[in-house]
Amino acid sequence: MAKPRTGDTSKPALSMPANATLPGLAKASKNCQACDLWKRGTQTVFGEGSPGASLMLIGEQPGDQEDLQGHPFVGPAGKLLDTALERAGIAREQTYVTNAVKHFKWEPRGKRRIHKKPNTAEIAACRPWLEAEIAAVQPKIIVCLGATAAQSLLGRAFRVTQQRGLLLKSKLAPFIMATVHPSSILRAPDEETRHAEMQRFIEDLKKAANRLS
Ligand code: URA
Repeated sequence: MAKPRTGDTSKPALSMPANATLPGLAKASKNCQACDLWKRGTQTVFGEGSPGASLMLIGEQPGDQEDLQGHPFVGPAGKLLDTALERAGIAREQTYVTNAVKHFKWEPRGKRRIHKKPNTAEIAACRPWLEAEIAAVQPKIIVCLGATAAQSLLGRAFRVTQQRGLLLKSKLAPFIMATVHPSSILRAPDEETRHAEMQRFIEDLKKAANRLS
């Protein structure tokens, strides 16, 4: 039995079954209290997709819609990701999509729940789940979407701005690449920038797709 590392919590970490299947991991993750985010989120949002996927996509954490619906990348960022994948010639059903952190971290602003970036301890507390997902799926390429996923898997010194789109050899999978998070494209200041950023994102995804073919 491997124990997930603990975060900022006094609760004992959850025991994780070794060599578990994805459904087994998803079930066990529902009771995870390895950091305090379980208190704030509606539910654990575990990864989903093809168990034999050659491409694994890793985001930061579930957003508002994902937290409510219980599925990764189903909100606005997920819709943009779907479009980019389609334009890169990748079928989402053939990928496995997950997040570095499995609970939504937010703070109230009026009636809205505003996304808050997970901290280092929360990312570390969730990493055993990510490692277990990678071990179960055994993807050929992992694509980190944004800095949180990249820093979880490639270290805190990794800079998406400098190293995006590079296919790096890794012990976790034959190749690992980092690119921007789809939310950053949604936040682009104007239509022209959004279009240019979307094109770059699609090009990065195409590099991954070309490596698989
Ligand atoms: N952003 C993420 O990083 N993951 C999701 O699942 C949704 C939005």
